[in-house]
Amino acid sequence: MELPPRPTLFDFHGVSMTKYFTDNWDDIQNFKARPDDIVIASYPKAGNTWVSYILDLLYFSHVSPERQDSVPLYERVPFLEMHMPGFPSGVEELNKLITIPRIIKSHLPVHFIPKSFWEQNSKIIYVARNAKDTAVSYFHFDRMNMVQPEPGDWNSFLQRFMEGKMVFGSWYEHVKGWWKEKINNSNILFLFYEDLIEDTEGEVHRLCSFLGLSAAAELVKKVTEKVHFDNMKKNNMVNGSVEEVFDLNISHFMRKGKVGDWKNHFTVQQNEQFDEDYEKKMKNTDVRFTTVL
Ligand code: A3P
Repeated sequence: MELPPRPTLFDFHGVSMTKYFTDNWDDIQNFKARPDDIVIASYPKAGNTWVSYILDLLYFSHVSPERQDSVPLYERVPFLEMHMPGFPSGVEELNKLITIPRIIKSHLPVHFIPKSFWEQNSKIIYVARNAKDTAVSYFHFDRMNMVQPEPGDWNSFLQRFMEGKMVFGSWYEHVKGWWKEKINNSNILFLFYEDLIEDTEGEVHRLCSFLGLSAAAELVKKVTEKVHFDNMKKNNMVNGSVEEVFDLNISHFMRKGKVGDWKNHFTVQQNEQFDEDYEKKMKNTDVRFTTVL
């Protein structure tokens, strides 16, 4: 199949986006959420796939185990705003999903989330990852994902990251916007990638209690084992190997899965510049990240 071309970024209501996530805007905004829908929202590269897989296993692994080996995760957890020529759109996939609850992936900034999710009081899990590791992961992702804009070299990519000229806009605004929203909204759970790395099982328990799931300790243990980086990397239904738009010869989707890989990419000068800029952009929020474990 011929792949759609790499898109260019443009300003969409103040957020940098590409046409593959905006062409379908009316359908996205008019999406009919249900009270039992669960949204996994994140800035790109924060660990959305990881949490999607955890939830899919918690809800469905004992009900239909065969699904695990035959249906790619992106079909089980559709990507709400995706709309690409040659592929069914996220909204179409969601409208034909028969599993309950529907687990929905989104990278939308909080003010772009379709209003029916708020009206229906659907639960939302926001996954956040420190800016430096996110930037590194995003750089490698844009190299291998043929439907993302050309990343350019690392230095120019990092400058654009700081300017918010990335698909789905500014990391800083994304994270601050969702953090502010969750303060008064008990339907939002804020998860950190770094906490998931440090204590996966503890975070799976936290997810269960947020979702009101009385999962047996045994199931939680099994899920924790299955979602370990090494196991996910071997699992073709979740490791990005069936996505036609990924060129795994350039970089893997399950690339490193570490906290602190930024140290292998940032020069001393880039790090100083980044820290200085970070302080300015994040001074009006109390969300705190770990960049080393
Ligand atoms: P790296 O590129 O740093 O390896 P998303 O799913 O939001 O696109 O995030 C992808 C990032 O999450 C990648 O980061 C990927 O390796 C990491 N990831 C996915 N599953 C993981 C797991 N089980 N453990 C640790 N990291 C994981």
